Amino acid sequence: MLFNEIFSEFTVWLRDVPLTQSDSHTSRVVKEALRERLDRDNSVAVRRHSVYHCGCYNPLIENNNYSFQPESDEAMPTQLIRILGTALTALTGVICNAALAAEVNVYSSRQEALIKPLLDRFSEQTGTKINLVTGKGDALLTRLRSEGMNSPADILLTVDAGRLYRAEEAGVLQSVSSELLMSEVPGHLRDPDGQWYALSVRARAIVYAKDRVDPAELSTYEALTDSTWEGKVCIRSSGNIYNQSLIAGMIATEGEAAAESFATGLVANFARPPQGGDRDQIKAVAAGQCDVAIVNSYYLGGMINSGDAEQQAAAAKVGIFWPNQDGRGTHVNVSGAGVTKSAKNTANAVKLIEFLANDESQRWYAETNNEYPVRDGIPVSEVLAAWGTFKADEVPVSELGRLNADAVKVMDRAGWR
Ligand SMILES: [Fe+2]
Repeated sequence: MLFNEIFSEFTVWLRDVPLTQSDSHTSRVVKEALRERLDRDNSVAVRRHSVYHCGCYNPLIENNNYSFQPESDEAMPTQLIRILGTALTALTGVICNAALAAEVNVYSSRQEALIKPLLDRFSEQTGTKINLVTGKGDALLTRLRSEGMNSPADILLTVDAGRLYRAEEAGVLQSVSSELLMSEVPGHLRDPDGQWYALSVRARAIVYAKDRVDPAELSTYEALTDSTWEGKVCIRSSGNIYNQSLIAGMIATEGEAAAESFATGLVANFARPPQGGDRDQIKAVAAGQCDVAIVNSYYLGGMINSGDAEQQAAAAKVGIFWPNQDGRGTHVNVSGAGVTKSAKNTANAVKLIEFLANDESQRWYAETNNEYPVRDGIPVSEVLAAWGTFKADEVPVSELGRLNADAVKVMDRAGWR
């Protein structure tokens, strides 16, 4: 009785064990053959044989076919010992290769709070274990490079197309072709070679002091170089990749000379030397140190939703404006993910990226971090809905990476610290 209970537990579990990319060829063939056999005939005898073959793992494989031979009754005593051994091994967690739990190792520069709930949901739905390592985007890339093909990482998840491009250039990603990702992620929001795919979109908008600026005075990024804004513009340093991508996008559509003229004009209108992050620019506008600032939209959303009274008060003093609506559109950037070259769990890594692009995950991102979904038709947060829709610049975000070095030079020449 005990044996039968163990068999039945074990074989049910065996049938549900997913095939993984890391399975050896033998392991895959055996798993598939056992499942097929169990589906056809789930008698105790067949289950015993299945356990036996999973446990001892020395199957007959010829020409990619696994031949399943029922054992003779005479062999049963020996088999029973093997079966019991196998079942106990399984129960103590040291199990045969066919039964290794599926897992995916993720290196993420997104904060844990902004990604772990989604990863947990994926684990619940698929039984795949996710091992998450978080760190700064550039540090994770350095780590991936130094680990090379020995890296345990299967996925690199990071923010800004500039960084995704750097990872691609560093040779740490591999091309992935997924029909699902190709259809769910628009062409301009993914790498042309499939090395990375956007998972969320963020806009770099203008925020303005409601009590000092009439939004009718605002139009384009370029218009902020007008002398009327002298001493009134706040923006973070040129070392920040968000600004580098803003300039790279401008180079892509308007050319390098126009981008340099913008950078020079903007620097001339700075209210103060660049300092702090995007939230600090919003606070500076609220505090009257400047009248306008260029920031990523989700920071304002985060301040509005923050439990911190000071941040809420600062956010309440500013309005958001979508620049360049009559032209190329507001500059947008992405967070995204790619499968690493060293990946040992490629198939499950692709499944996870597909999961992060699905409607449910896209909605979660838009609700939780006030980012925009990668495609239309997904509901956004109340805060984002209140800001209205806008025309986004559709220059391929891969261009932001390709032109990053040129953008840095332009900003240097413009004296943007
Ligand atoms: Fe950010």
